[in-house]
Amino acid sequence: MRATARAQPNIALIKYWGKRDSGLNLPAVGSISITLESLFTEMRVGFEPGLERDRLTVDGDEAADLLPRLSRCLDVLIGLDREHALIDSRSNFPIAAGLASSSSSFAALTLAAAKAAGLGLDRRQLARMAGRASGSAARSMYGGFVELSNHADRIELECLLDRDTWPLSVVVAITTDSPKPVGSSEAMEISRRTSPFYGRWLETQQDDIDACRAAIGSRDFERLAATAEHNCLKMHSVMWASRPPLVYWNHATLECMRCVRALQADGVAVFFTIDAGPQLKAVCLPEHTARVREALEATSGVVDLRITGLGAGATLVDPH
Ligand code: DP6
Repeated sequence: MRATARAQPNIALIKYWGKRDSGLNLPAVGSISITLESLFTEMRVGFEPGLERDRLTVDGDEAADLLPRLSRCLDVLIGLDREHALIDSRSNFPIAAGLASSSSSFAALTLAAAKAAGLGLDRRQLARMAGRASGSAARSMYGGFVELSNHADRIELECLLDRDTWPLSVVVAITTDSPKPVGSSEAMEISRRTSPFYGRWLETQQDDIDACRAAIGSRDFERLAATAEHNCLKMHSVMWASRPPLVYWNHATLECMRCVRALQADGVAVFFTIDAGPQLKAVCLPEHTARVREALEATSGVVDLRITGLGAGATLVDPH
């Protein structure tokens, strides 16, 4: 009745923004991501007969405000007649600040809870269940380069390339660790309802996915860089044109973009991507990691940096 799982966040190179069914949390578009290695969330889940309600601690502190979404995830996965759960969550990076913590959290929660409840689901079923809780979490079930594709009534996941075949480095520039002002789910709905660019976003997504998949297949860094930056800026344009506008960047985000542009002009193989938060993720070839790190470290407004390679998918952790 107890299990622990660990999952790494993933960073989308081709972004998921918008839902076609909020009830089932089905995305409006496919996406492609890389799973990270050294950032992680660990979830311990125990179903305790006699417990009167679910309880959650995050990094040791009771976190009642985050609990409803996790309880819903367990209800969908196991059923409403389940025992209540004790959930203990630990992450080695700031949560809710645009560092993709929901991807690692819901992947780890789904894997641990399915094991604790003895459900016997395979990885693709686990990924679909994690996706019901948070779209990006489905991708964290897999390692390396991962494509999430949309089908009539479901999502499919595929590892396009494993992490050893094309090792890339990611330098995460943290510009603030405060929580983001509007959560992704709510923000996506605002964009869907109000952004004049939303329709074009949907129409052009498949071209970006195809270009990105081809770049990964041929390990063409330049093409990957151009496609990922374009898709990221297109998503932010959809956000900026929403009403109310969704602007997640701060001055340091822009400074970091300028820094990456300067590195590129200097021949460094690096590109940036930014999610629903002010942190910038610089993706580079491993031999350029030190250079990218130094440059971002010296950038005004950067408060912390994380360096990571690409990771494997979510795993169960042996009880100590
Ligand atoms: C900008 O997976 O957090 O990071 O399904 O509503 O939980 P929900 O959304 P979530 O959205 C991630 C949005 C993004 C892009 C991406 O990761 O693809």
